[in-house]
Amino acid sequence: MASPKDYTVEYPFSKRHCLTISDFHRMDIEALLALGDYYQGLQNQRITSAPILRGKTVVNLFFENSTRTEKSFEVAAKRLGADVISMNVGASSVKKGETLLDTAATLNAMRPDILVVRHGSSGAPALLSQKVSCAVINAGDGMHEHPTQALLDALTLRTTFGGDIGGLRIAICGDILHSRVARSNVQLLNILGCDVRLIGPPTLLPIDADCWGVDVFHDMETGLKGCDVVMMLRLQMERMSGAFVPTKREYFHFYGLDKNKLAFAKKGAKVMHPGPMNRGVEISSQIADDPNISLITQQVETGVAMRMGILHALSDNNKSEKSESENTISEYNNARHYETAGRLKPSNTLGEA
Ligand code: CP
Repeated sequence: MASPKDYTVEYPFSKRHCLTISDFHRMDIEALLALGDYYQGLQNQRITSAPILRGKTVVNLFFENSTRTEKSFEVAAKRLGADVISMNVGASSVKKGETLLDTAATLNAMRPDILVVRHGSSGAPALLSQKVSCAVINAGDGMHEHPTQALLDALTLRTTFGGDIGGLRIAICGDILHSRVARSNVQLLNILGCDVRLIGPPTLLPIDADCWGVDVFHDMETGLKGCDVVMMLRLQMERMSGAFVPTKREYFHFYGLDKNKLAFAKKGAKVMHPGPMNRGVEISSQIADDPNISLITQQVETGVAMRMGILHALSDNNKSEKSESENTISEYNNARHYETAGRLKPSNTLGEA
């Protein structure tokens, strides 16, 4: 397999928003992953400051609960030198009846540079992107997409498997029906040439799943055969309107990942989970806490680096919206120069360790 440093990109990422994986071509994805890989390299060197977003404002607007996504965007934006406002929706005027669009228009009037949005309704970030003048990042919308999770998962896999992940057999298991993580990951992993499988009970698989470019299985023994990676998903009870599984105990018996079921996969297979985990429901602690098997902590670490890369890429592309006088930040300009080798990364804008 190629090493990550072989992923050199001579391609200007030109998208204004990060809303859905389907907006991206392979080269967009390579450009974003190269940036994420670059910031991961900085993290590994304990360099936590690269202030190319100094003077920029990032607003986190989360209408649904989040630990990993919201906090990692906050850390990522701060490491890039941005001013970060994490809006507590519960304590905002949304509680007084203000609509999503009015809230967005109000925030937009304060001229943020990037709006990171999580919402329970599919398509809400895309709608906002048409109403505001800044970049919008979809941090998870209903059952639709979670593109930044898919990007960080792909970067975690590249780091783990030493570069090219084309040809890896990856099983995504559990509640696929309600999962935006699954929808984004299937698209992205297919673009990267992986052999993607979905495993779950018929009640938790979309009826059109066999049109997603994947193989569909209803039992773990057959589905996990030959898999290099097993990605577990939680039961999204908050999106279920009825009984989709008899009991959690029975669900764990058939679909919960423990050492016995993992033995059906390839020897040395790795396990991922986007979090939050429900131990004893879709995954055993024995698997989740085994550092030789579980990539769950790496996913969180990589999440910060990948989100730094995404913020960087989008801040570059939204620069053209503003007047020259607003773009006086030398770090910002420096960041637009890419290495002569073509690798997408800032040239000399790094902060001190
Ligand atoms: N993976 C993920 O989206 O986790 P949070 O809900 O904690 O952000």
